[in-house]
Amino acid sequence: MPIIKLVNAEKFYDNGPNRTWVLRRVNIDIAEGEFISIMGPSGAGKSTLLHLLGMHDMSWSGEYWLYDQPIHKLNKKDRSEMYKKYFGFVFQSYHLLDSLTVYENLDIPLSYRNIRKSERDSIVCDALDKFNIVGKKDLFPNQLSGGQQQLVGIARAMIARPKIILADEPTGNLHSSQGKEIMEMFKKLNDTGTTIIQVTHSETNASYGNRVIKIADGWIETA
Ligand SMILES: Nc1ncnc2c1ncn2[C@@H]1O[C@H](COP(=O)(O)OP(=O)(O)O)[C@@H](O)[C@H]1O
Ligand SMILES: [Mg+2]
Repeated sequence: MPIIKLVNAEKFYDNGPNRTWVLRRVNIDIAEGEFISIMGPSGAGKSTLLHLLGMHDMSWSGEYWLYDQPIHKLNKKDRSEMYKKYFGFVFQSYHLLDSLTVYENLDIPLSYRNIRKSERDSIVCDALDKFNIVGKKDLFPNQLSGGQQQLVGIARAMIARPKIILADEPTGNLHSSQGKEIMEMFKKLNDTGTTIIQVTHSETNASYGNRVIKIADGWIETA
């Protein structure tokens, strides 16, 4: 049984009389424990597809089943609960909360779980340590470089041990050695059962996964 099933998902933008199709009849089944790379040229629809899967975008047609729940029929509150329960999301543009420190950004996903504050503190400290950002914990996102913000974004996506990690070009702003460390972290999580779906341009990053989904002009080439 797939944990994620998209049936004929389609999306377009209308600009005046012009309709631009971004996703065309996308059918995808993803099983628990897969590590998938979405690849394709710039503008192909990769981020759009990832945001659809992450339930950030609901203006599309078709069906989306997540753990047998019809996401396309759920209201915003129920979707939000599903999101907090199952997903960690690494945004291409980081999306950290500007008014919160690094420490506080990392605590947010934990605050959705039923975990004591003292235990949350120790989980956040472990993550700061693992990502080599202990010295940044009291800084705000705008005091960090792009690469540092990306690391915080990745740490935030992993910290509450979600069942599914969605990552949009997660190593795009990292040095290659850091990128390799992140891919190895993903691989370790995947080995313990976490399902991972990443958008990447890198064949090296894709080689950590078990399957590539290619997309071009909104059409899936192999699924
Ligand atoms: N607001 C918008 N209006 C019209 N077209 C858009 C809008 N946002 C994105 N697009 C188009 O959707 C397509 C897919 O974008 P995206 O999913 O970000 O591509 P990728 O992540 O593969 O580079 C692109 O061709 C882009 O121009
Ligand atoms: Mg993109």
